[in-house]
Amino acid sequence: MDVFGVIVIMLAGLWLFLPAMLPNSAAVVFGGGTPVDLGRSWKGKRILGDGKTWRGFFGGGFAGFVLGMILMGIALLLKAEDPWGYGGGWTVVCIVLSLSFGSLLGDMMGSFIKRRLGIQRGQKAPILDQYDFLIGAFLLTMLFNWKWVYSTYIEGWNILALIFLLAITLLLHRAMNIIGYKAGLKKEPW
Ligand code: CTP
Ligand code: MG
Repeated sequence: MDVFGVIVIMLAGLWLFLPAMLPNSAAVVFGGGTPVDLGRSWKGKRILGDGKTWRGFFGGGFAGFVLGMILMGIALLLKAEDPWGYGGGWTVVCIVLSLSFGSLLGDMMGSFIKRRLGIQRGQKAPILDQYDFLIGAFLLTMLFNWKWVYSTYIEGWNILALIFLLAITLLLHRAMNIIGYKAGLKKEPW
């Protein structure tokens, strides 16, 4: 494997993961209204909190899905060979849906854990805040498309795509939150 090959693996891994990265930012824009937990508590603490809403969930998930379809369309138009596509047919839809909705389920799982630990909505929880969406997206996608996840992010040199994702997620998370804060969309810069 030469340097160019490694760069392609890492960039393709990021490109294909974008449908998992968009939903949480899109949820900030679409969010509001009825919370997913309907305001209910468990053992005196909110199940998820007011930061997880149905509108954010479906709006964010739909945004990720549309982005995935656009990425696939671009790959088809440019007749890009592997590794730039998700495969073909219904597999594409299945992978893109599990990436986008998996990321939001992971984000909700993160909030669920934060509430159990007594961390208020919007308060910081290092690692959890940055990686909950990524873990959710990978788990759901592995459940339905294990072979694709394995060949894209685990097998041989492809593990570098995963390492690259973990690193860039930290940077992007920081940048996006500062942008969201400055734009007045988020109450805290994290
Ligand atoms: N959001 C939403 N629905 C979701 C996810 C996010 O409406 N399913 C919106 C909410 O307005 C939320 C904002 O996006 O406040 C930022 O999301 P996040 O940082 O994940 O939520 P926090 O408010 O920080 O809450 P938590 O402590 O539970 O993470
Ligand atoms: Mg937060």
